[in-house]
Amino acid sequence: MKNILVTGGLGFIGSHTVLSLHEAGFNPIILDNLSNTNIGVLDGLEKLMGKRPVFFLGDVNDPAVYGEIVSKTGSIAAVIHFAAFKAVGESVQQPLKYYRNNVGGLISLLEAMKKEGIANVVFSSSCTVYGEPDAVPVSESSPVKPAASPYGATKQMGETILQDCADIHTQCLRYFNPIGAHPSGLIGELPLGVPSNLIPYLTQSVAGLRPPLTVHGGDYPTPDGTCIRDYIHVCDLAEAHLAALNRLLDGSQNGRFEVFNIGTGHGNSVLEVLQAFQAVTGMVPAYEIGPRRAGDVVAVWADASKATNQLGWKAKRGLSEMLRDAWNWQQKQA
Ligand code: WQD
Repeated sequence: MKNILVTGGLGFIGSHTVLSLHEAGFNPIILDNLSNTNIGVLDGLEKLMGKRPVFFLGDVNDPAVYGEIVSKTGSIAAVIHFAAFKAVGESVQQPLKYYRNNVGGLISLLEAMKKEGIANVVFSSSCTVYGEPDAVPVSESSPVKPAASPYGATKQMGETILQDCADIHTQCLRYFNPIGAHPSGLIGELPLGVPSNLIPYLTQSVAGLRPPLTVHGGDYPTPDGTCIRDYIHVCDLAEAHLAALNRLLDGSQNGRFEVFNIGTGHGNSVLEVLQAFQAVTGMVPAYEIGPRRAGDVVAVWADASKATNQLGWKAKRGLSEMLRDAWNWQQKQA
C-alpha cells in the first residue's frame, strides 16, 4: 500500500481527497496544523474509512516534521500539497500572511522532498492564476495574467517554483470553485470564523447562524450583474487528484510539469446559485446586494477538456447536487 502525504489533509478538499485515496487502496498520511479546520474531521473520516487515518499535527513550514513522518511511516510515494490559505478577500487585507504560508510552506516542503528523495507532487493551484481573463472559458494555455489578489499571486509563484525544480515531477491542478460535501454529511467545508466563501456563508446564514448574505456587487458586466464562477463538487475535485496521482505514479505524464484545469466547464452567477439553492432545498436565502469585493474577477470558468482527454477525468456532479450536499452537511452540524 503506497504512502501518500497529504498536507492540509484535514481541510475541505484535503479531507475529501484522503477518503478517495483510501477508497483507491492508497495509505493517506495527513499533515495539518489545524489553522483552518478542526480535529473533529478525523472522526468523520474514521467513520467513512472504517479506520482512523494516520495524522501528524504540524506545519508545512517546519522542516523537522517531514523527517519525523518518514521515520514513522516509511517511504512516501508522492505528496498532495493542499496546505495553504485560500481566501481571496483576506489575502488582499493580509498579503504577508499569504506569502509566508503559501510560498514559504511550499519551499519548505520541496526542500524536505529533496532531502527525503520524494519526487512526485500534486499541487493545489487555482483558476485565480488567470487573473481577469480576456476570454472565457479559460484553457491551460490562456495567459497567466497579473493576479487580482495576493492569493492568486502565491499560486502563480508556486507554479513557477515547481517548474524550476528539475528533480520534482508535478501535476498542477488549477481548481475553480470547490463547493458541496460528501453525500454522507460526515465531512464537508468547515471554515473557522466567518466564512469568506459564498457557499459556507450561504448555508450558515440560511441555517440562521449568520446575518443575511451580502452579494458582493450587483453591477458587474454580466447578465444579472453578479460575478460568474465555475462551481465544482468537492468529490469531483477529489477524484481529479486521484487521476493526477496515478498519472504521476504510472509515469504516463508528459514532461516534469503538467497543468490541468479542474472545473465543470460551466459558469453560474451568484444570483443563479441562490436560485438553484432555493430550488433544491426549498429554503429562500435572504440576501442584499452590497459593494464589490476587492480581488474579485468578473467571470471565470474552465475549458476542462485537457483533463478529460489526458487525465481521463470529467466532473460528474451538477450544481443542484453540489448545493443539496452542501445543505445536507450544514444541517448535520451541531
Ligand atoms: C465566489 C463569488 C464573490 C461570499 C474561491 C476560493 C479560491 C479559489 C477560487 C481554489 C464571488 C461572491 C462570496 C459572499 C458573495 N479556489 N460572494 N458574498 O473568491 O471565487 O475564490 O475559488 O483555489 O481559493 O476562495 O470564491 O466563494 O469567495 O466567491 O457575493 O459572502 O461569490 O464575490 O463573486 P472565489 P468565493
